[in-house]
Amino acid sequence: MSKDLWNAIDEKYLDLIVKPDPRFEQIQQNCVEAGLPTISISNIHGRLFELLVKVMGAKYILEIGTLGGFSTAWFATGLPFGGKLISLELDPERATLARQNLNLFEFKAKVEIWVGDAIHNMTEMAKIDQPPFDLIFIDGKKSQYPDYLELAVKLSHTGTLIIADNVVKHGWVMNDEITTESQIGITKFHEMVAADPKLEATVFQTVGEKGHDGFSFILVS
Ligand code: DHB
Ligand code: MG
Repeated sequence: MSKDLWNAIDEKYLDLIVKPDPRFEQIQQNCVEAGLPTISISNIHGRLFELLVKVMGAKYILEIGTLGGFSTAWFATGLPFGGKLISLELDPERATLARQNLNLFEFKAKVEIWVGDAIHNMTEMAKIDQPPFDLIFIDGKKSQYPDYLELAVKLSHTGTLIIADNVVKHGWVMNDEITTESQIGITKFHEMVAADPKLEATVFQTVGEKGHDGFSFILVS
């Protein structure tokens, strides 16, 4: 198994069945031109998220970590009339670019990008009795995943799906020594999931154009 084969398979099914709207390519190009790291989800996974939103009938989505708005656009594509997505981004320049990117789509009115510290904003949301979200995508700083999880659960209802990105990155979860802040954060995140009887979860490994990585899928009861 090689990365070339994974890429080729992603491309094959991207062309055959996903057939993404060309505006997704435009977002990626705008992000590259703005010098953003190419760490967005793939189109293959974007379609999975769009389908999950549709299958769940999710109307209210929270995203932690907007970057250039690429995953934001895939989630928003799945939203019904009256649906809403709030995406949290620390960096104002990234938020501005993401807004420009999302303006390419008809669903732009359904998306709000909040600039600032996600933990602060989620804490405020929890205080003001913000209605709970149906789906929460965690893709911010890996060292802060435990804090995001705690707040995400507070902002959930029975049946909320929490998805966390990059939980397998390079397979380092199997290293004997977990030393970086990201590794520590993601390890603690899963220990918290394991310890909370309200959370039912799995980890889904992925290969493809993003290399070897994975998502956690966590159902709140
Ligand atoms: C990386 C990938 C991501 O999706 C992310 O959210 C952060 C970092 C990476 O490959 O380094
Ligand atoms: Mg990510």
